This record gives sequence, structure tokens and C-alpha cells, in this order.
Amino acid sequence: MLSIDENEYLTRIGPGTPMGALHRRYWQPVAATEEMDNCWTKRIRLLGEDLVLFKDEAHRFGLITEFCPHRRVSLAFGMPTEDGIRCAYHGWAFDKQGHCVDQPNEGTRHALRGKKATTAYPVQEMGGLIWAYLGPAPAPLLPRFDGFVVENAIRTIGSAQIPCNWLQIMENSVDPVHVETLHGRVSEFHGSQKGVTNLNTAKHHIKIGFDEFEYGIIKRRMLEGQTEEAEDWKVGHPLVFPLMVAIGTLGALWQQYSFEIRVPIDDVTTRHYWYNAFIPPAGTNVPERLLTRTNWFDQPFKDKNGEYLMEFIPAQDVAMWVTQGAIAHRDLESLGASDIGIVQYRRMLRREAEKVARGEDPIGTVRDAATNEYIALPVERGKYMNMDGFRRLMQTNMLFSPIVDDLIEVFEGVDSPKVAAEPV
Ligand code: FES
Ligand SMILES: [Fe+2]
Repeated sequence: MLSIDENEYLTRIGPGTPMGALHRRYWQPVAATEEMDNCWTKRIRLLGEDLVLFKDEAHRFGLITEFCPHRRVSLAFGMPTEDGIRCAYHGWAFDKQGHCVDQPNEGTRHALRGKKATTAYPVQEMGGLIWAYLGPAPAPLLPRFDGFVVENAIRTIGSAQIPCNWLQIMENSVDPVHVETLHGRVSEFHGSQKGVTNLNTAKHHIKIGFDEFEYGIIKRRMLEGQTEEAEDWKVGHPLVFPLMVAIGTLGALWQQYSFEIRVPIDDVTTRHYWYNAFIPPAGTNVPERLLTRTNWFDQPFKDKNGEYLMEFIPAQDVAMWVTQGAIAHRDLESLGASDIGIVQYRRMLRREAEKVARGEDPIGTVRDAATNEYIALPVERGKYMNMDGFRRLMQTNMLFSPIVDDLIEVFEGVDSPKVAAEPV
């Protein structure tokens, strides 16, 4: 249980808050590149700030405070310039650093001319996402984690706006035992009500463990029937501090990289990305169109009647997060032994926020280009090792991806080993 003050400290992320300062020290995805295919600007809300993501004439991205410093209209109506954006109202133009570089009706003597006139942030593209850094200069490197930079991958990225605070979503990533009930028993129960079979099942947890490593916390589990030699225990998978989790994946012939990324929009809204990159074995016949797009989609979590899709794994999680409230009442909770990962993560957030307050880099900050060529994350592999397992993965986790049928077709073309699939 936390006090009301402790809960405020851990959850609020606006400018000037300790957690806001911590999250501003990490790069955050603000959009999928494909979302910008057919537009020049997009309103973005990130960490409580209203911003506009834009493309210049050469289709390079910039991110600037939404409201024009002249008379405060939205730059979302702006037009591209050679190196920035021009306001739709009176034509003032800004470069990607926020300098005012043109004012058609002011001559050259206006106080803002040539000066930093508004806030702008650096952005970079990686893995089909556009990432932004809202913290103090010098910006650290954008970490090149494996799944975002592997080549020849079939990617698909789902996203949804979740109406709750980011912390209850992240706490789910250090809560291994929920898989047993929520994704096991609940899938079976709700699936059976709708006549859906072949859904996920989950075994009982014998023990769980959490170890800090250089990019966050490794989460381990040992399930009934397993030994410490099982990858679930020996390797586990990481919460990548502070806002991402890498998930156990396919093994054997296919390689898969799977992330969930949680981006705080404001204190009570979080944009969630479900990111997957699949690499079929060399020689597999993969249609070119699957490799050249990142196959972005809106991830639904409710049906047309507004009811949660309780037989669909991503929606099961969302239902739990949202019903904890806009900001979970941690002053009323009652933690148990299975919540030790949550306690460890909360302590880590506080410790790292205190480091930032002292002017130090928080954990996982990457400033060395050699380290950053490729960062391999430890993740247990070898789930869904046969076609049945793969179909179940598609049905329970990726149903709404626009390429779900293509993935099944490509996978069917691979000579997969006949190994019993393990439940997630
Ligand atoms: S309000 Fe933007 S140029 Fe006048
Ligand atoms: Fe879950």
C-alpha cells in the first residue's frame, strides 16, 4: 500500500514532476511512421504537452509545441517549408529547433526573428516508429534494441489509446502470475461462452523472480512441470525501464521480437503499442509487400456494444488496467507475496527519479555509439513452436493485425518442427 502522496509522486508526469523529469530522459515513440503517410502534420500529446509532429518539404520529421508563438493558433494547420513548418494564420515559419526564420509582414526587426521562438524536440525514426526526446540536452542515443533494427523482418504494429495512467499498465509487466488466471482461466471461461476453442491455457506458477540488469528488470517464472533449466526461469524476459516490456516469443525456425511500449499522453491517458517483428528462416518465400510496410493498425479492445473482448489477450489486459481507475488507488490496495516485482519496480522508479534530480543519467541511458550498434535483450524463446501454437498466437494476440492471414500463410510454408507448444 502507498500513501496518497506516494501515489501522486509515482504517477504524475507533467512538466516539473519527478516522474515527468524521469520519463523525459528516455526516447518515446510518438507515432508509427505509416500514420504520417497521408498527412503533413499530426497533433501529438506526450507527457502532458501539446505538440505537432510535422514533415518538411523533404519529408523529414520535426516536433514542435502546438501553439504558434505569434497569436497561439494550432500549428497542426501548418504547411511544410524547406526545413520546418509555416503557420497557417500569418505565415511565420519555424525550423526544427523552434527558431523563427520568417515573418512575412514583420520585416526583419521583430524580437523573435532568427531566435528560438518556441519549444521543439528532436525526433528520429527507428523500426517503423517515430521517437521523440523531451529531456535536457545533450540527448542520449536512441537505444537500438534488437527487434526495432533487425533486417528482413515482417513487422506489424498495433496501437490503442488507453484511458488510464501509465503506472498500472507498467506494473502489469512485473506481475507474472496474472497470466495464469487472466490469460488462462479467463480465456477458457469467456471463450467457452462464445464457443471459441483452442484458446490459451496457462499452468500454475511454482515460483517467480526478478533481477535488475543494465536496461531494467528481468522477470522470471517457473511453471508446474518445469525445472530451473526452462528458459522461462533461466532467461525470463525484461521490463525495459521505464516504459517497455519485451515478451517471450517464437523459437526454433522463426525468430520473433515482441514489445509492448507504454507512452504517457498525460496523467490519465496512455498510448499503448503492441510491436512485433517476425523473421522467417532464410529462403522462406515472403511477399515483398510484407517486408516494405510495418503494417500498422488500431488495436481494438471492445466489441461494437462497448464490451471488452474478454477472450482476446490484449483486451483482457486493457480491461484490468482501465478498471483500476484513471489513476489506481494504491492507498487502498492490499499487496501480497506475488507482488514483489511491483514493489521492486516502484522502488526503482523512485531511485532513478532521485538520480535525475541530482543531475545523473538514469539506468539504461545509452551514450556510447559502439554499444548502440545493436542491443540484444534477453528473452525466452521457443514458445509456439508448431503450427498449432502459431495459429493460437495469431488468434489470441494478433487477431486484428492486417497481415494475420499472411503471417499464417508464410508460416505454413515453413517446415516447422513437431514440438509440443508451451502455453504463454
Ligand atoms: S498565429 Fe501563427 S503566424 Fe500568426
Ligand atoms: Fe497480460
